[in-house]
Amino acid sequence: MTPGELVRRAGIDRGEAETLLGHVLKVDRAWLFAHADEWVCEAAALKFQHLVEARRKGEPLAYLLRYRDFWTLRLSVNQHVMIPRRETEHLVEWAIECIDAGATRILDLGTGSGAIALACKAERPATEVWGIDSSKDALACAEANGRSLGLDVRWVVSNWFGALPTAEWDLLISNPPYIAANDVHLTQGDLRAEPSSALVGGATGLEAIERITEEAPPFLTMGGWLLFEHGYDQSLTVQAALRARGFANIATRSDWSGLARLTGGQWWN
Ligand SMILES: C[S@@+](CC[C@H](N)C(=O)[O-])C[C@H]1O[C@@H](n2cnc3c(N)ncnc32)[C@H](O)[C@@H]1O
Repeated sequence: MTPGELVRRAGIDRGEAETLLGHVLKVDRAWLFAHADEWVCEAAALKFQHLVEARRKGEPLAYLLRYRDFWTLRLSVNQHVMIPRRETEHLVEWAIECIDAGATRILDLGTGSGAIALACKAERPATEVWGIDSSKDALACAEANGRSLGLDVRWVVSNWFGALPTAEWDLLISNPPYIAANDVHLTQGDLRAEPSSALVGGATGLEAIERITEEAPPFLTMGGWLLFEHGYDQSLTVQAALRARGFANIATRSDWSGLARLTGGQWWN
């Protein structure tokens, strides 16, 4: 079959089919258009059809391609890590503001593929960046990403602050699991294939955020920031938790669609 026929007959989103075929043939979209009527060898056609079948069954595109672009980086991903999302780039933007205002030691809690930690390090190489995760497999992915991108981040397997040395950070940043265990979204789209330990924040969805907020202060310098990504309907609860723990300058920011998705506060006590 030709590239044109393969894409037409795939029965999945056309753009995704083109991406998968380009991946198999190691060519870009422009090449597929220019060579739409040429013959694709049987081995490549078969490989493409296997990928299409997996996609049809709900395997996320990023897991099939084995990468996802985040910020300026191409990150390897696998089934042990949550696929980095565009919204999380807002958290990186906020982190960079904090770095430019003086933060030099940064800790990414629940680093997954290493997305936030690596983006901060890539953008501001003079900072000291740590990334922790309770999943050894996730951390192996983050570590491999750091190595292949040549970014020097310190990786630690840790249950939140549990395995961290007594030290102080100027910026704690986290996109923790924040979906409630019974949330219907967990049965939809890519969420079905991603590790539930990366998604589910207990019965209310807020357990990880509450725990990090409670335990964070001894790990922060005076004036240090704690920044979270959270669900679209959680900003008021996260603000209240930060206020109750003694954080000041509490602020919430919205994502590109105008949803309140990031909340942070500063430690002055
Ligand atoms: C929502 S994912 C975020 C991954 C990555 N930071 C990102 O933005 O793409 C949450 C991450 O928190 C990690 N995690 C869950 N519970 C944890 C815990 N108790 N201690 C440390 N990390 C935890 C998960 O393994 C997962 O990698």
